[in-house]
Amino acid sequence: MWNKVQETVKFLQEKGITTPDYGIILGTGLGNLVEKISIEIAISYADIPNFPVSTVQGHSGELIFGTLGGKKVVAMRGRFHYYEGWTMEQTVFPVRVMKYLGVEKLIVSNASGGVNPAFKVGDIMIITDHINMMPAHPLHGKNDERFGPRFVDMHEAYCKKMIAKMEMIAEKSNVSIQKGIYLALQGPTFETPAEYKMVKILGADCVGMSTVPEVIVAKHMGMTCFGLSVITDLGIEGIVESVSHEEVQEVAKKSEKVLGELVEAFVQQ
Ligand code: HPA
Repeated sequence: MWNKVQETVKFLQEKGITTPDYGIILGTGLGNLVEKISIEIAISYADIPNFPVSTVQGHSGELIFGTLGGKKVVAMRGRFHYYEGWTMEQTVFPVRVMKYLGVEKLIVSNASGGVNPAFKVGDIMIITDHINMMPAHPLHGKNDERFGPRFVDMHEAYCKKMIAKMEMIAEKSNVSIQKGIYLALQGPTFETPAEYKMVKILGADCVGMSTVPEVIVAKHMGMTCFGLSVITDLGIEGIVESVSHEEVQEVAKKSEKVLGELVEAFVQQ
């Protein structure tokens, strides 16, 4: 794994991707945040050695390097999900690469189903913490100390300072923003009403199928993480309705503009 990561990093550096300030993972329907990035380099995942290639519709696969809010960013347009059949190692491979490109701060975004009764469809939620209920762990197996320690501290998986900064930015921009805990299940099924209830009982505010593996390896390598989730549907007792990938994408698309502005301001400051 170490050698593969270094090989990919070398390839990307030779293409001109050098010392980005931020790494950004653009999740479901949030891919359009890239419109705010003034792009210098875009490389299809298929052309990057050792990179998996995403298969889900709506997840175009491209690594982008450019400027956002005056800062250098490297962004994943399209991420890898465990449910696609990738191993956890493959799922998180790009985050390992980001670290050795020089990224210290990771911004992740996703779509999720809300179980907090105060949430509405289309809300943007700052992820304050997560609950890992994925069936496999990205750090399973022998630990490579070059990446990080065997036992990883997760007491502040999502940076408190960054959370406070985004709250301030949202307030200044008159955007109401939620905060809450993201619980990760493997998918690809959406939840049954009983499962949404379980998610709530377990103490989470929303549920999704991504993000947690990436944040875990980012923390393994000592990176600082910040995450946003768009609540695309609700799994609240009594009002659990049908949900589809198309609906998730449609709602996420509506929140895209606001989300883009928030993240741009966030990176800038
Ligand atoms: N459950 C899991 N993942 C999701 C959901 C959901 O309700 N909405 C968007 N991604």
